Parts: sequence; C-alpha cells; structure tokens
Amino acid sequence: MTKQEAQDKIAALSATLREHNYNYYVLSAPTISDYDFDMMLEDLQKLEAEFPEFAADDSPTKRVGGEVTKNFETIKHKYPMLSLSNSYSREDISDFETRIKKLVEADLEYVCELKYDGVAIGITYRNGKLFRALTRGDGVQGDDITANVRTIRSIPLSLKGSDYPEEFEIRGEIFFPRDVFKRLNEEREDIGEELYANARNTASGTLKMQDSKVVSERKLDSYLYFVLGEDLPFRTHLESLQKAGEWGFKVPREENKFIKKCANIDEIFEFINYWDKERYNLNFEIDGVVIKVNNYALQEEIGFTAKSPKWAIAYKFKAEQVKTRLNEITYQVGRTGAITPVANLQPVLLAGTTVKRASLHNADQIAKLDIREGDTVMVEKGGEIIPKIVGVEVTQRDMFSQPTQYITHCPECGTELVRKEGEAQHYCPNEWGCPPQIKGKMQHFISRKAMNIDGLGEETIDLLYANSLIQNIADLYELTFDQLFALDTFKEKKSQNIIDGLEASKQVPFERVLFALGIRYVGETVAKKLARQFKNIDALMHASFDELIATDEIGDKIAESILAFFSVESNVELVNRLRGNGLQFALSEEQLANSSTKLEGLTFVVSGVFSLFSRDELKHLIEQNGGKVSSSISKKTSYIVAGENMGPSKLAKANDLGVAIIDEHKFSEMIA
Ligand code: IVH
Repeated sequence: MTKQEAQDKIAALSATLREHNYNYYVLSAPTISDYDFDMMLEDLQKLEAEFPEFAADDSPTKRVGGEVTKNFETIKHKYPMLSLSNSYSREDISDFETRIKKLVEADLEYVCELKYDGVAIGITYRNGKLFRALTRGDGVQGDDITANVRTIRSIPLSLKGSDYPEEFEIRGEIFFPRDVFKRLNEEREDIGEELYANARNTASGTLKMQDSKVVSERKLDSYLYFVLGEDLPFRTHLESLQKAGEWGFKVPREENKFIKKCANIDEIFEFINYWDKERYNLNFEIDGVVIKVNNYALQEEIGFTAKSPKWAIAYKFKAEQVKTRLNEITYQVGRTGAITPVANLQPVLLAGTTVKRASLHNADQIAKLDIREGDTVMVEKGGEIIPKIVGVEVTQRDMFSQPTQYITHCPECGTELVRKEGEAQHYCPNEWGCPPQIKGKMQHFISRKAMNIDGLGEETIDLLYANSLIQNIADLYELTFDQLFALDTFKEKKSQNIIDGLEASKQVPFERVLFALGIRYVGETVAKKLARQFKNIDALMHASFDELIATDEIGDKIAESILAFFSVESNVELVNRLRGNGLQFALSEEQLANSSTKLEGLTFVVSGVFSLFSRDELKHLIEQNGGKVSSSISKKTSYIVAGENMGPSKLAKANDLGVAIIDEHKFSEMIA
C-alpha cells in the first residue's frame, strides 16, 4: 500500500467508524453489529500502527485511553459554572414565575428537562475539535480532566457538520448508566473488592483517576444541556440543543420526552409528575427536573444572581421514603472478613421495587440512630443502590425494647471480632479458618479474570467445600476424577471437565496466578506490574518493603499487604504446594524475551511530536524496557525524550532542574 492509499483508507475508515460510534453511543440506534464494528476498528488500528504519521488525535482508536495524568491542572473557567436554586413544591415554582414576571413583560415559554444526577462538566471545542474538559471545581476554576473525558464514547472528539462556532463551550453531566454501574459492582464482587455505594460519587472518582485507560473501561456516559460562547447563532435554548444534537452531542430530545416546551405551570407539573414516576425506568439516575426560560433574549433580560441564573430553577424530587418494621438484624461476613450488619425488613414497596433488606453500614451507624429489632423504621432510596434506614419512629417502639448489642464474635466461625483503629468496620480475623473467607478466596481464585477454570463455578466450590473435598486452593489440584464422580449429580463428563479445566489452568501466566492468590490490594494491574518487576515468585517473596515500593504504582499500603501475606507460613506453604502442582510462578521465556531491563531505575517524561514513533509507542517502549513514564518533570526525572514543539514551560523546568533532554534517535540507541 502506498502512503497516499494508506492515508485515504485511514480517513475513510475513521469517518465510517465515527458515524457508527455516533449511532451507537449517542442515538442508541446502531446499524451494524458489534462484531463488524470491532473488525473495522481493528483494521484501522493496524493501519495506524503501520503508518503512525496518519494517526490523528481524534481517531476512533484513541477512545481506549492510555494517557496518564499525575496532577490535574487547575484552570479558570471562561464562564463561571453557576448552580441552580432549588424548589420543592408547586408554590416554589409559582414564586419563580412571579419573580420573572416582575422583571420582564412577555409571554413566557419554558423548557423542562431532566436533572441528571451526575458530575458537571464543561467542554470547550475549537475548530470542531474537543479542546479541553474541566470539572466544576469551585465554579470559578476546575480541574483539567481532558484525557479522561476523551474516552467517553458519547462525547465527540470532532464535530459533525460545519456550522459550529469556531470556539464554544458545552456543559452537561457525566454519569454511570445504571446497568454499567451494576456490572462494575458485580466485577468488584468477583474479585472481593468493596462495592461502590453511590453511582455519582463513583463517576466523580473515576473522572479523577490518573490512568485514562481505566476510565475508558468504565464506560461512562453523558448528557449535555447548555451551550455557551460569544455571538451564538441561537434564539432559544431548544434551538441550541437541537443544533448541538446535529453536531454529534448527546442531548435531551423531545422524541423521548427528556425535554419539553411548556407554556404554564400546569404543563410544567405534568412533566414533573410524569418523570417523578417514570424515573425508575430510566437507565440513569435523575434527581429532579430543571425549568428554564426558553428565549435567549429574555434570559439575558432576566439575568443572574451571584450564584445562579434567575431564568432557571431546579425542582428536586423527594427521595421516596416508607415506614416498615425492622424484623431482625443479621450480620454478613465478606471475603475479606468485613462484617456488614443487615436490616431484614417487613417487605415494602419503595421507588418501584420491593425492599426486604437495607444496609446498616456498621456498629456506629446503628448506635447513632439507636436502631433496634422490632422498631418501625424510615427507609429511603437516594442515590444508593441499597436502601438505607434514615430514622426510627421512637413513639411506636415497644416499651420493653433494648438497645442493639453489636455482635462480638463472628457469626460464621465464632472468632472474636476485631476493629482496627480509625476503621468503622468490624473484621473477623480468622482469615484461613472462616468458611465465607475460605470459600471467597477459592471463588476468587477460579474466577474469570484470575485462573478462569473451565467447569468450575461458585456453586461447585460451595459443594466441594461442603463435602470436605477442598479446604484451600491447592486442594483443587489434588482432586481426583473418582472423588468428583462419586458426588450426587456429577456425571462422567462434568467430572472430567473439571479435571481438564484444572489441568489447563496450569498454563495460566504468572501475573494471573499472582492475582488469583487473592493478596489484599493486589488487583489485576498491580499483579501485572509485580510480575514484570520481580519475574518470579521467589524474588517477590523475598522482596523488601523498599524494593516493593520502588515498583511502579506500588505504594505503602500494597507493599505492607504483600509483606503480611508472605509472612504467614501457611501462605508460603500454599504457594509451594501450588508450585509443586505445576502452576506458573515465573514469567515465561517468551515474556522474558520481550522485556529488557535496559532502562531500569530510569524515569522518562515524553514531550512533543516525534517522527520515528508515536507518543504511545515511545511510552510503551520505555515500560517494556523496565523504565518508568511520568507526565510531569521533577527531580526524579532521569531523561526527557523531546520531540518537536516541546512546550516552553517544560523546557524551562527541565533546564531549571538540570534534567537531561534527549531526542528520539538517542532514545533508540539506549534500547538498541
Ligand atoms: S442547567 C446556568 N440543566 O444541576 C445553568 N443543570 O443543581 C446551568 N444539572 O449546576 C445548569 N441536569 O450541574 C442544567 N438539565 C440540566 C441539568 C443541570 C443536571 C446540574 C448542573 C447544575 C446543577 C444544579
């Protein structure tokens, strides 16, 4: 293929993929299968790898992230990010109208839209390309989270059409769709991590993550609802959203009733009442409705207070609350031994679902609200997935009722519970003898992202454990066909499948075995870094605290947890038994061949534009050769690999700190 042909092909593929992206993520109306999309994307990836000079910054392949931001830069908003005043009743809305009518004499037309319960974002576009995305911050200045926002598929990197202003800002909310958030929690449950309680807070935390690749995997979504700029060509708010939709943004549309023109308070309340009920059927959370004056000229006339526009108001839904009887408090023991008290309720209908249980969080929460068995309690469903108890109807309390005595011993194994200083949760310390903890470890071990053992699922683990066939993960590899076949419901095929699955798992690479061991805080990524750094289990087992924290992304907490794990003799025995069983406890020849230590101990900052490599390739090469990539220059920086157009402030800083600057040719020599 000639260069010209490659360039044309890349342009054509990019345009097609962009259109499919838009159909899928913005319109939710895909016209090709996921498979066909993936194939096309792969074609583009290959071409771009071969001809990196034609890989554009806004290529559809760039959605997967990879850029790492160590410190988010704080930047002043061009237009302050205001908030809205709240209202809770028809009277409040009527007051809002009265206030406006004192300021302008005109027939008012309102627009009602959903109030998305997400994280506010302001995104600037220049010449049709995503330029910068800022968080609200304090309203005056926010954090630059552009790298992370670029991974959100419903936010265009470049705009459709050509009639957009040269520069403008668009604002909206970023959030987790309900099903995505649910899946995220299921995955966390899988690997024994604590669940996220609240979708909005998790979205906010995700947007501030350093590694945009992780953000990309989280699959956040957006709705945008406000266009700002100089001399915008719109007469009304609705018109602006209509246009923004044409440019490729995900905006509320009249077709799906997310937005509606209203002439009076009756119509406004029709919208409010409709969504107060319907909101439970949406795949994202809303916490109210926003009412805006549609006409731009009138908006301007009505004006602002210091904090919010006077032409708009938020109507907040009441968090639905019901009263019910608390029948019993029970206690759950998690994989890590954490104890969670659970309120077992008289079943009651709340926010569209029947609620039977509510989380009581911890001992302090129970004491603070003085919650007792037999009480009539108020249950609320806010942003949280699990409903919570917000109060007790003390007047309805039985006169003989006694304050709740929190358990002192594990309900599963009887061991005395501990509570570490500063932690709210009680723990069962019997890590290796408490059934849910033992089973949890084995379930994690066999899970898809760990050993992924064919034929074995959670139920089988429960059954094998109940039949005393396994006590720990090493026992799995000593199971025999006859033992399995002797179990009820275990036919020949099923038994053989498990034996085969276990045999096949002996080829699972070291990093996944390491992850499968279930060392606290050693997730998939950390396991990978550790495997690459230490290369085999012996080196890791004997690593000192300092050696551990010298590893990329390994901090004090993880290092301590690793040391604690290997200081327990039974853990070392377990590893040795697994090793005896033939599991991989070292990098393979191939993995070793593909990595070098030429850059070990060196930290690089990559800046500018290059001709031999793309920036991502450079970063990858640094890591593959044992070096570290950082995004900001500091005393710890060993080299700056500088291309063309390296920023002047970076250059000054490098000179200031006396950091060596090398070009890509010199870099090539270092790894040759
Ligand atoms: S308009 C100057 N529209 O709620 C007016 N805001 O509590 C800017 N929000 O600051 C806001 N959905 O972060 C507007 N459809 C919507 C909204 C919305 C959610 C957020 C936004 C705002 C906050 C006010």
